[in-house]
Amino acid sequence: MRQIGVGVIALGWMGRLHSRGFRQVAERYPELGVSARLVAAADPVPANREAARGLGFEHAVEDYREVLADPQVEAVSICAPNFLHHEIAMAAIAAGKHFWIEKPMGVNAAQSRAIAQGAAAAGLVTAAGFNYRHQPQVEHARELVRTGRLGRITNARVWLIADYASSSEGPHTWRYIRAQAGAGVVADLLSHGIDLAQYVLGSRITEVTAMTDTFITTRPVPLGVGVGHSAVAVSDERRSVENEDYVAALARTGSGALVTLESSRVAVGPRAEYVVEVYGTEGSLRWSFEHPEHLQVLIAGEGVHRGYTTVMSESGYGDYGRFQPGPGQHLSFDDSKVIEAGQLLESVLTGRQVAPSAGDAWAAAEVDEAVVASAADRAWHAVPEVSGTTYAF
Ligand SMILES: NC(=O)c1ccc[n+]([C@@H]2O[C@H](COP(=O)([O-])OP(=O)(O)OC[C@H]3O[C@@H](n4cnc5c(N)ncnc54)[C@H](O)[C@@H]3O)[C@@H](O)[C@H]2O)c1
Repeated sequence: MRQIGVGVIALGWMGRLHSRGFRQVAERYPELGVSARLVAAADPVPANREAARGLGFEHAVEDYREVLADPQVEAVSICAPNFLHHEIAMAAIAAGKHFWIEKPMGVNAAQSRAIAQGAAAAGLVTAAGFNYRHQPQVEHARELVRTGRLGRITNARVWLIADYASSSEGPHTWRYIRAQAGAGVVADLLSHGIDLAQYVLGSRITEVTAMTDTFITTRPVPLGVGVGHSAVAVSDERRSVENEDYVAALARTGSGALVTLESSRVAVGPRAEYVVEVYGTEGSLRWSFEHPEHLQVLIAGEGVHRGYTTVMSESGYGDYGRFQPGPGQHLSFDDSKVIEAGQLLESVLTGRQVAPSAGDAWAAAEVDEAVVASAADRAWHAVPEVSGTTYAF
């Protein structure tokens, strides 16, 4: 069994998930013959460092540079707030560490480009946090598109509508500061939608036009620090929200499909309604994260019914069989992080890029940037082509 020493930088919501993901790889992917050794974690918050032992780390430090300097560490997870991704990733590249980085990879396309090109030039493998790709029914949807079962793909709709910021009394964290988070929900959720569209259709988005808005324009200053989107006590002082709450975009892919993309972080109602619909000349499909084990499919000429049939997950759809021995169950958000951890370690082991790559995250960042530019000038914007992506068939 080959052991790969890993470090996790930041132990908030994602950092803890990455850590648990690494721990499961040896068991879920026994044929790889690889296990993660959780060497070190870094987080400036003492309570998070205290959590490190329970997560299985040998030690925890305050400064991420110590993790990067550790010769026992071969690969690192970068799970800090967005504005630190570029600094930490460039330091990881300089230290020769493979890395798994959360989305959005930088706070803008230039940062993302520097990270992706830096990793490629250094011969490093990467993983990017596009975890919805790994849902078995998303993999099955991609397979139906790839094999032409839906005919020529004419159009697709992808939306990620959430309520995590729907309260105007929610704390004004780094997520609402443009220099720290980037383009609000465009960077946070639309980036997932862009990756899902490119992955399922196997084709890149080449041009976009978009509208954006900020519906909650001020938020109270927090008195403490939370994990992820959790609530913390707030003061009476309020600060301006500097980035987007909502985005709607029209896009075209290189394969000629028309795509609508939409994201909100302030919806009152849907909590995490993440949906992919694909329409082709011979059929169509619909997947929703609210029932991830279902894929609604209609293939013209097959079966006796008109309208969608619900297909349930089973072994053979993506990595489903590694998690559930029987059909019809669902894989959780956390399970998809185990798959991503497995793909990173397989990439480190083989030198072959298996996981969603830094190139994929750069591609999403270029679309994000074109969306923001279009919302500002109300024109169509071409999306620059990038290298190192993995979504093409
Ligand atoms: N893939 C997904 O679906 C998904 C979901 C949620 C968040 N994310 C991304 O993950 C990243 C982190 O989000 P989160 O929700 O885990 O945030 P979080 O607020 O829960 O955690 C951030 C952590 O970073 C730590 N930190 C701050 N400065 C640091 C430093 N200098 N060195 C090391 N650690 C530092 C904080 O102490 C905190 O523990 C963001 O980029 C976010 O966009 C991705």
